[in-house]
Amino acid sequence: MKKRVLTTRENLPGNGLDRLAGAAELVAWPGDGKPGPSDLAALAPGVSAVLALGNDPVDGALMDAAGPSLRVVALASMGFDNVDRNAAAERGIVVTHTPRVLAETTADLTFALILAARRRIGAAGASLASGSWGLFRMHDYLGLDIHGATLGLVGYGQIGRAVARRAHGFGMRVIHHDPYAPDDDLSTSVDLATLLAESDVVSLHVPLTEETRHLISAPELAAMKPTATLVSTARGGVVDEEALLHAVREGRLHSAGLDVFEREPMGPELSPLVAEPNVVTLPHIGSATEATRAAMVDLAVDNILDVLAERPARTPLPG
Ligand code: DGY
Repeated sequence: MKKRVLTTRENLPGNGLDRLAGAAELVAWPGDGKPGPSDLAALAPGVSAVLALGNDPVDGALMDAAGPSLRVVALASMGFDNVDRNAAAERGIVVTHTPRVLAETTADLTFALILAARRRIGAAGASLASGSWGLFRMHDYLGLDIHGATLGLVGYGQIGRAVARRAHGFGMRVIHHDPYAPDDDLSTSVDLATLLAESDVVSLHVPLTEETRHLISAPELAAMKPTATLVSTARGGVVDEEALLHAVREGRLHSAGLDVFEREPMGPELSPLVAEPNVVTLPHIGSATEATRAAMVDLAVDNILDVLAERPARTPLPG
């Protein structure tokens, strides 16, 4: 008899779900939006695996609703702050995520944010679209250079390294802060205080954990250069958004580029950051290319198939 697998969306990019349907009985949340905890719990009894996105809460209650048959929670995301890891460990459930396959795509978007924030691309484009571009004037739309600037990477894993490679192509100096990553040929390891003081661009590439929550708050923002840019494609909770808003508004920070927020979905009614002229905001699209999103689903499916076939998962969460 085929094992049952709960997927939190009916449609996902690529053909991963079709492959999974060939090997298991799929129980899919049929709605278009995001399922609530009770929606998933109602579908969970008796499933052996859950395929979830990075913003679906997967807690002990969902695991208990699934019952003892549940062997694996496979996230189609790199981030894993939505899963109660302790609850999974207590129940012997493997949790997997999708590193590597999204590193280059997310690094591309990180660079888009760096360029957009420092060169004021959004504000300049909006001014043209609104018909307010008159003459060529020497003082209009002035930004700050990327070439020759120092890039400070907070977190130097796969995405951080992929950003470092791009930065060298742009003629930047690269430093990083990551207790687990020494110097390499792309970047020099420094402490956080040095990174904040020396960087023209600070880019965040750490997971959201108890240690990294509000890692960048008022004191860290005050330690950055007033000409610096803060960029995040990591998780919203790593930055204290209230403190960031004050720093940008008061001219203590040049600009910011954010793809992630403490509260998502985000909109102008939820935070003034969205309308702030020197802040570029995007709706969490770091990994959003057709190929990469399909690869994330594929890897999540492979992890499920491996665990259900008693093989080790390909990409379990780091210990
Ligand atoms: C990730 O993979 O963590 C992306 O942010 C999507 O959840």
